[in-house]
Amino acid sequence: TYVVTDNCIKCKFMDCVEVCPVDCFYEGENMLVIHPDECIDCGVCVPECPAEAIYPDTDPSATPAWLSLNHQYASAWPNITRKKDPPADADAWNGVPGKFDAHFS
Ligand code: SF4
Ligand code: F3S
Repeated sequence: TYVVTDNCIKCKFMDCVEVCPVDCFYEGENMLVIHPDECIDCGVCVPECPAEAIYPDTDPSATPAWLSLNHQYASAWPNITRKKDPPADADAWNGVPGKFDAHFS
């Protein structure tokens, strides 16, 4: 599976949902996650993300904690299949470290 990680938080650009062939993104207030049982490992979402927040589960950035979080919240949050307007300050949050502790949802 592919995994959404820290830098999606507060960026939430949503370009990823437009290209996913199986619509396996789920939307929280500040980030999206991927349902690991639905992702078909096509990889097309990776270059679409302006925040470079998506990694294959073979990458060290896709830590067990992020894998678990994607699995947990994909079952709790609503499915999203169309891009919406990103947060007005999305670009300002791109690359800011430590977003999880302050802003995860
Ligand atoms: Fe969707 Fe493919 Fe990205 Fe998985 S790797 S989330 S199937 S676009
Ligand atoms: Fe997040 Fe990147 Fe998608 S910032 S919403 S994973 S395009």
